[in-house]
Amino acid sequence: MITGLRGRDLISDLDFSKEEVETVLDVAFDMKMKRALGQPHAYLRDKTLGMLFFFSSTRTRTSFEAGMAQLGGHAAFIESKSTQISHGDTEKEIGEILGRYFDGIAIRHVDWGIGNRYLNLVASASRSPILNMQCDYYHPHQCLADLMTIWEKKGRNLRGKKIVVSWAYAASYAKPISVPQSLILQMPRFGLDVTLAHPPEFELMPEIMDQAREQARKYKTGFEVVDSMEEGFKDADIVYAKSWGPLVTTEGADEIKKVTQKYESWITDERKMALAKDDAIYMHPLPADRNIEVTDGVMDGPHSVVFDEAENRLHAQKAVMALTMA
Ligand code: CP
Repeated sequence: MITGLRGRDLISDLDFSKEEVETVLDVAFDMKMKRALGQPHAYLRDKTLGMLFFFSSTRTRTSFEAGMAQLGGHAAFIESKSTQISHGDTEKEIGEILGRYFDGIAIRHVDWGIGNRYLNLVASASRSPILNMQCDYYHPHQCLADLMTIWEKKGRNLRGKKIVVSWAYAASYAKPISVPQSLILQMPRFGLDVTLAHPPEFELMPEIMDQAREQARKYKTGFEVVDSMEEGFKDADIVYAKSWGPLVTTEGADEIKKVTQKYESWITDERKMALAKDDAIYMHPLPADRNIEVTDGVMDGPHSVVFDEAENRLHAQKAVMALTMA
């Protein structure tokens, strides 16, 4: 087991090595067991986490907050608009000052072209670790919970198994591309063959694609891109289908809406799920546009593991916090 994560940031999925991710998940399973048994596990007594949000959240906020309390510490919810950031507090000032108050700073900032840069600038000024609660490029804590859930459902030996990371249509808003980017970076390291399915306008960042292909080469796993949901779902062991915006190729709210509307047929439904393996699991980080992005029948059906996936956010994040903030 590789330890020594104290003081480390988690901003990109590749900030932790494969062995360090394994350590995180081993600790996460221990945390999950201890909680199930009602055993105290106050590894962060008297420690504090500052949670700075530039965007709304249900799961991320509540799981980090509950996790800190269960670890014996305290999490402070800070909404950017209630701070002086809009009146001039810089990234350096936030890093320097909050880094002195808190033992860890968790940030959600998903604005395209801004969020990841913001987190890295805060990190370079902070003496405390920076934890990425989702930026425009990555959602690493979601991805850790996803991998934990896949291990629970499919075992740790994933070699030869197929995950399809598919775009899906949604009408609500242009969602960040961070979840699919995290998945294609992390999953090859654990033996999964990755199929990325999306319409042409919904490509991911070229540099992330290069890094994902490099991971697939290094770990000798498959990596392919297809432009059909049906082709992607075929014989998949894991279906991970969610919406994201055409942020890499398209600018302007009207144009984004026009491009997105062309692909209303990209819904995860029972017919498409039947193309996957009989024992395939359906995953989604939530929130989803029900009956637009995915049918109720799939979301609430026998293949769906979305609630276990959401629960595992708590355990995976507690493991990261205990290892980095102790
Ligand atoms: N999956 C996820 O990050 O959920 P929230 O946006 O509700 O935090």
